[in-house]
Amino acid sequence: MRKKIVAGNWKMNKTPKEALELVELLKPKVDTDSCDVIFCVPYVDLIPVGDALKGTSIALGAQNVHFEESGAYTGEISPAMLKEIGVTYVVIGHSERRAYFGETDETVNKKVKTALSHELIPILCVGESLEEREMGITIEKVRSQVKLALSGISEEQAKTVVIAYEPIWAIGTGKTATSLQAQEVCAAIRQVVGELYSPSAAQSLRIQYGGSVGGKNAAELFSMGDIDGGLVGGASLKEEFAQIVHYENS
Ligand code: PGA
Repeated sequence: MRKKIVAGNWKMNKTPKEALELVELLKPKVDTDSCDVIFCVPYVDLIPVGDALKGTSIALGAQNVHFEESGAYTGEISPAMLKEIGVTYVVIGHSERRAYFGETDETVNKKVKTALSHELIPILCVGESLEEREMGITIEKVRSQVKLALSGISEEQAKTVVIAYEPIWAIGTGKTATSLQAQEVCAAIRQVVGELYSPSAAQSLRIQYGGSVGGKNAAELFSMGDIDGGLVGGASLKEEFAQIVHYENS
């Protein structure tokens, strides 16, 4: 039985002071052992939020990482830097990074490799655009993103990766994929991981759905056989996040 995993992707929101206020609001509501909960916060919030989360079961996540170990990469943050301050998870290949910051399947693959070599758990994001969905190439696109992102990664390492299926047309738009649409793609992701590695790798893989997840649709989405939780943007900045974490009671 795979444990559910719900991550809040705060994106470029909350100064350190505001971040601590949000953590104080959410902490008592989402500190639970029934599901893995992660706050993926902006870089400058990582240290104060990490301190505020000590003694809870909420994990700390970053939203990006560079693929090199160190060096002349102005403005970048290395995996060792994240590891040293207590980061456990790192979002890699979010569609906003692919669309606005030039990330490609190749840089995503390098980032997954370097994160794994520092024992950071990648939350690898994949998903199709509206155009691709309308063209009927959703599964093909997502299969290819998964294959390229995991290229050269051993089965042992791949077993720790979390994959987030986020249809681009559903992110921040209020348009959620139906639970059947989301399930179909998440099942295809599990299948491709099975083909790349083994049935056991496929079975242990945790797959999140992301794109306008909220308190009202989490229970239905997370009840689907291949959906093991969510990557939550907008609703992770509000009390509503607690409803998503406790979806079973909603
Ligand atoms: P959203 O964002 O929940 O605001 O749609 C999801 C994401 O981008 O991870």
